[in-house]
Amino acid sequence: MSTVIVFGAAGELGQAVSNTFFNAGFNVSLVGRNSKKLIDVKNQLVPDNSAQVDFYETDICYPEEVEQLFKQAQATFGKIEYVVNCAGKAVKGSILEVPFEEARQVIDTNTLGSLNIIKSAAKYLNSGGHIINVASSVTHNPMPMHSIYGMSKCAQIYLSEVAALELSERNIQVNSISPGIIESNPLIAWLETEQGKAFASKIPKHSIRSAKAISELILSIIQIREPSFTGNVISPDGGFRYFSNQAK
Ligand SMILES: NC(=O)c1ccc[n+]([C@@H]2O[C@H](COP(=O)([O-])OP(=O)(O)OC[C@H]3O[C@@H](n4cnc5c(N)ncnc54)[C@H](OP(=O)(O)O)[C@@H]3O)[C@@H](O)[C@H]2O)c1
Repeated sequence: MSTVIVFGAAGELGQAVSNTFFNAGFNVSLVGRNSKKLIDVKNQLVPDNSAQVDFYETDICYPEEVEQLFKQAQATFGKIEYVVNCAGKAVKGSILEVPFEEARQVIDTNTLGSLNIIKSAAKYLNSGGHIINVASSVTHNPMPMHSIYGMSKCAQIYLSEVAALELSERNIQVNSISPGIIESNPLIAWLETEQGKAFASKIPKHSIRSAKAISELILSIIQIREPSFTGNVISPDGGFRYFSNQAK
């Protein structure tokens, strides 16, 4: 039975990924900063197969915490094959407005947190392993009010691409997925407003997807066994990336 570590497992997408992989028969390690939320996620996974679930309260900003959870997960499951990083933090505001400390937290989480995950994953994954980092479609197109978030995710993508090159010798694949708008996004409420409706009418039909749909795509990416399929950015955004710079 294969094992996946899901970072940000208590979040909207992380929960869906945990659920999708568990239902597909994977052992799942749930990771987040709040044990109570992780226990809730664990309790919602219906055990109709023999897959196992555990959880780790871990802050990805601290490399020693990330390293420790990989060590424990390996001790529990014997082998870790897959890592899906759905942990993330966003901040919205103009470059002039965003407080420096908030910007630092976003970069610490999205960029350096991803670095911590890749570094540990590289130690624990074996040939055939696969890391997927969740980025965002904002990386394709400069979007006002999203400078810090966008730059943290652009850096995360670059990191994933270099990791793909550096780990290819060991047959470990690293890919990024850049969703458009996930149904839980606060932007959805704005799209209902008078100002938002004009924008909503312009965005392509499949820009808004459920967390479940994205999680199923992530599973199918993991299931591609072709070793050349690495260093990619997959963009399930319905073409939103071509429109996103019109958002305010
Ligand atoms: N929602 C969208 O429309 C959308 C679109 C494109 C891309 N994305 C990206 O997709 C990913 C998942 O999005 P989402 O909507 O599921 O977000 P979410 O519901 O806010 O979940 C993010 C999760 O990340 C965890 N997290 C944050 N900082 C962490 C840290 N330092 N250490 C460990 N865990 C941490 C949080 O868990 P705790 O607080 O419990 O630690 C939270 O559960 C994010 O990277 C996001 O940027 C989202």
